[in-house]
Amino acid sequence: MNMTEPFTIAVDGPAAAGKGTISKAVAEHFGFAHLDTGLLYRAVGAKYLLGMDPAAAARALTAGDIEGSNLRGPEVAQAASKVAVVSEVRAALLDFQRSFARRAGGAVLDGRDIGTVICPQAEAKLFITARAEVRAQRRFSELVASGSMTSPEQVLADVRERDARDQNRAESPLKPAPDAMVIDTSDMSIKEAIHAAIAAVRSRR
Ligand code: CDP
Repeated sequence: MNMTEPFTIAVDGPAAAGKGTISKAVAEHFGFAHLDTGLLYRAVGAKYLLGMDPAAAARALTAGDIEGSNLRGPEVAQAASKVAVVSEVRAALLDFQRSFARRAGGAVLDGRDIGTVICPQAEAKLFITARAEVRAQRRFSELVASGSMTSPEQVLADVRERDARDQNRAESPLKPAPDAMVIDTSDMSIKEAIHAAIAAVRSRR
C-alpha cells in the first residue's frame, strides 16, 4: 500500500464493545491516525449538560473540547446519545470526520455510523460487537478503575438504554454496513480481538 494515500478503516458497534481499544491498536499496527468519534458527541453532550444548545455546541466545537478527561463518565455518555439524535448536531460534525478519514497516510475512525453514513466508501469496515452483559461487565471494570461509584446492574441498564436509543433513532442509526465484517468479541481476549480486526483489515487491502 502507498502510505501517502488515504485508506479509511471504519469501526462501528454498540456501547463498550471494545471499539476504542481495537481501533487504537489497529491504527498503531498500520501507522494510521485514529479518531474516536464518540468523543465529539461526548463533548457536545457535556456542553448540553451545562445548559448549551446542542447544535450551537456542535458548531462551535474545537480540538481542545475533546481532550477533557471528564468525558468518559456515564452521565456524559447518556447526554452524548441524547444530543446524537439531533440532526443539526450530526451535520455539524460531518465535515471534520470526513476530512479526517481521507487524510494522507490512512485513518481509523470508530463510532456508530462511520461505515454507513460518514464513510460509506471506506476501504475496510468492521462492526465490533459483544453480548450486552459482557460489554457492561467490561465497562463496569473500567469505571471502577477510574474511581467511579456504580454497580454492574446500573452499567448494564445504561448500556441497554443507550444501545436502544442509538439503534432506533431516525438519523444514522447504529447498524452494520452491508459490507462490514462483524467481529463478536464476547468470548475473545483483547489480544484475540485485535488480531481478528487486523486480519479482517488485511483481507481488504
Ligand atoms: O465508548 P462507548 O461505546 O460507550 O460510547 P462512545 O463511542 O463514546 O459514544 C457515545 C455516544 O455518542 C453513543 O452512545 C452514540 O449515541 C453517540 N455516537 C454517535 O451517535 N455516532 C458516533 N459516530 C459516535 C458516537
